[in-house]
Amino acid sequence: MTVPVHLVDDDRDLLRATAQTLQLAGFDTATFASGREAVAALDAEFPGVVVSDIRMPGMDGLELFAQIQRLDAEIPVVLMTGHGDIAMAVKAIQDGVYDFVTKPFATDRLVQSVRRAAEKRALVMENRRLRAAARDVEGDLPLIGQSRAMLRLRDMLRQIADTDVDVLVTGETGSGKEVVATLLHRWSRRAKGHFVALNCGALPEQVIESELFGHEPGAFTGAQKKRIGRIEHSSGGTLFLDEIESMPPESQVRMLRVLEMREVTPLGTNEVRPVDLRVVAAAKVDLGDPAQRGDFREDLYYRLNVVSLAIPPLRERRDDVPLLFGYFAERAAKRFGRDLPQLTAAASRHLREHDWPGNVRELSHFAERVVLGMEPDDGRDAGLVTVAADALPLPERLERLEAEIIRETLRLHGGDVQQSLAALGVPRKTFYDKLQRHGIVRSDYAGKKG
Ligand SMILES: Nc1ncnc2c1ncn2[C@@H]1O[C@H](COP(=O)(O)OP(=O)(O)OP(=O)(O)O)[C@@H](O)[C@H]1O
Ligand SMILES: [Mg+2]
Repeated sequence: MTVPVHLVDDDRDLLRATAQTLQLAGFDTATFASGREAVAALDAEFPGVVVSDIRMPGMDGLELFAQIQRLDAEIPVVLMTGHGDIAMAVKAIQDGVYDFVTKPFATDRLVQSVRRAAEKRALVMENRRLRAAARDVEGDLPLIGQSRAMLRLRDMLRQIADTDVDVLVTGETGSGKEVVATLLHRWSRRAKGHFVALNCGALPEQVIESELFGHEPGAFTGAQKKRIGRIEHSSGGTLFLDEIESMPPESQVRMLRVLEMREVTPLGTNEVRPVDLRVVAAAKVDLGDPAQRGDFREDLYYRLNVVSLAIPPLRERRDDVPLLFGYFAERAAKRFGRDLPQLTAAASRHLREHDWPGNVRELSHFAERVVLGMEPDDGRDAGLVTVAADALPLPERLERLEAEIIRETLRLHGGDVQQSLAALGVPRKTFYDKLQRHGIVRSDYAGKKG
């Protein structure tokens, strides 16, 4: 990145010569003949350095510095003077001027000073970005990322969250579709209503219909009680239709009608009930592409696709990997009561080179393994079998492996004890003993499959 430098001097020849020096050193240099012009060209987001002469008619360098301070006290200012006025230099530095060079200066001296000032400014900007990111980390639901794609995504989310527009979110598995849907809900006035999620791929057709639309007693065999559908339940809130690409064709027709009419007719009734609806749908495939769409109705696609948000896979925004890893590692350390470990070379290579087909979810699991000392010994395989062949004695490694297998099993079964017991093939008592011994909290996994 080339850092911008704003250079101010009323002496045109010197201005040109100094600008050339800075340009040769790689700075993107703009020149100004007066303090007033220089101030007009600055704002608090200015990512660079200001270099200014002190003695100038009108606004002098010190006054310019004072004005910049009011704009953003962290913009570094380097002052130049032809008069070796030590007392003024000391005073200026005390007031917060970054550096002070006397003319005629050795070009090295100026370039060095500007370079250090630029580094400092870059750090300030980086920290501001991180703090801004931290502000987006809301409770247990962050959307972390500083890549261009994520910055744009967060901007979009803010813009559309509080509108009633329906949104289609696409992205590979684990890329954050549900996080996005939840933020759309939380950042809108609909946050007062319910966030109602339905996974269209997980349920058989008949169940989907009654889940979505609700039914009266006797609407179909087995419908004993009246049931309020999810669509109606989400009225005033947000309806999240996950894996919309798996919605059965029959339901698609009915859903399209709901979206157009903003009303719902429960099964077994002729009653029409208006709903205050906002739909966020998620798909793993590009429904705009006929080859991927399968039997998904084109008209429903167009109806849902008022606004579409595509979350890029993690491998296409690698810049986010360290930030996400840091966040997940810290969270895991807190949860498991461990210290944050030093990254091993293998783990670091994995972070740099892995393709993350499971995207952010996979990265979060990797961070947990690193915190638990289960880091991979091979970039291609970060799975269970790669208990680090480090210097630990065998019994300890076996202990760790056991703990990891139990965690993996709980994760796989969303914390369900019955299923985990079956998968592990151990008696209930043994299972609970082991949980206790390894400090595993079953409820950490409840309802969170994958
Ligand atoms: N940008 C992000 N910042 C922090 N955590 C994230 C981010 N993206 C995803 N996650 C986390 O990664 C995990 C997977 O995200 P999410 O469930 O939203 O993915 P998904 O796209 O819905 O995946 P799937 O298609 O498999 O359902 C979650 O634990 C989520 O909190
Ligand atoms: Mg999901």
